[in-house]
Amino acid sequence: MPFPRARPRRLRRTPALRALVRETTLRPDQLVLPLFVEDGLDEPLPIDAMPGVSRLSPDGALAVARDAAALGLGGVMLFGIPATKDPAGSGAWDDRAVVQRTTRAIRDAVPGLTVGTDLCLCEYTDHGHCGLLDEHGAVQNDATLELLERTAVSQADAGAEVLYPSDMMDGRIGRIRDALDAAGHDQVVIVAHSAKLASAYYGPFREAAGSTPAFGDRRSYQMDPANGDEAVREALTDVEEGADVLMVKPAGPALDLIRRVKDATRMPVAAYQVSGEYSMIKAGAAAGYVDEDAIVAESLTAIRRAGADVIATYFALDVARALQA
Ligand code: PBG
Ligand code: ZN
Repeated sequence: MPFPRARPRRLRRTPALRALVRETTLRPDQLVLPLFVEDGLDEPLPIDAMPGVSRLSPDGALAVARDAAALGLGGVMLFGIPATKDPAGSGAWDDRAVVQRTTRAIRDAVPGLTVGTDLCLCEYTDHGHCGLLDEHGAVQNDATLELLERTAVSQADAGAEVLYPSDMMDGRIGRIRDALDAAGHDQVVIVAHSAKLASAYYGPFREAAGSTPAFGDRRSYQMDPANGDEAVREALTDVEEGADVLMVKPAGPALDLIRRVKDATRMPVAAYQVSGEYSMIKAGAAAGYVDEDAIVAESLTAIRRAGADVIATYFALDVARALQA
């Protein structure tokens, strides 16, 4: 009997055989592009910590949204940088704020592209936290929920089809769902940031969104990155409260959580390849240490293989272009 009979290399011999048995695919319609829109901006403002990413005006975002639609992306996710901030983050639910205006503009001009909005207060609060503070500077949970409800309804009124609550307050998904239903928005999709870790990988984003906490950190609301069972509990709670999709964030450093959330819920799972993951790849590629396109494709494939159906990534347009070529 010749040895070995099992020869896994048979299926690796040609590109066609490899394609035939490939388990994981990457398509543009699985990718969501985060965009930063700033009130009062005339031209793109490059973000130093994220080479290739800029803050945009509503018109600038509209142009990118057209590209995103032409390339078949799964959608865009808007973050807003307001002209002024206050302790409650009231700019978040202002009907004429930059996110609401940009949402309307894209919905009007780019039919077929799914428009989503980040739902949080940290870009709008003068202290940079994701909720209302009490007199000791602690983030108040229940008082914050009311502000998130208002913001959710305001974003849905503007035409947002998908909301991405990223605040990590307890009970928010249920309250947002009820508020949307009461306002006649029962078709709005909620992608809950279920397992959002208190992560150092968000570093570059805070420059991008101007949302660095003025004091302290976010560990009293974002999850301890050391915990896995807790991620599953968070996800199950969000399903009960009416989430449509469950998000794990960051993605690459939490592949196990993506898998566990998928297996525990069998719900659609999203993962967010965050700013630090992006900028580290950019820096490594710029230094000539790694091949950017190859690393991007491999990192996103790994996130898909772990169980993510949807990936939010700053590389979305690049990947879509590469897949088209
Ligand atoms: C906060 C929020 C964060 C990100 C998006 N929304 C993290 C934070 O500042 O705590 C991070 C996204 C990224 O790093 O790309 N609501
Ligand atoms: Zn926030």
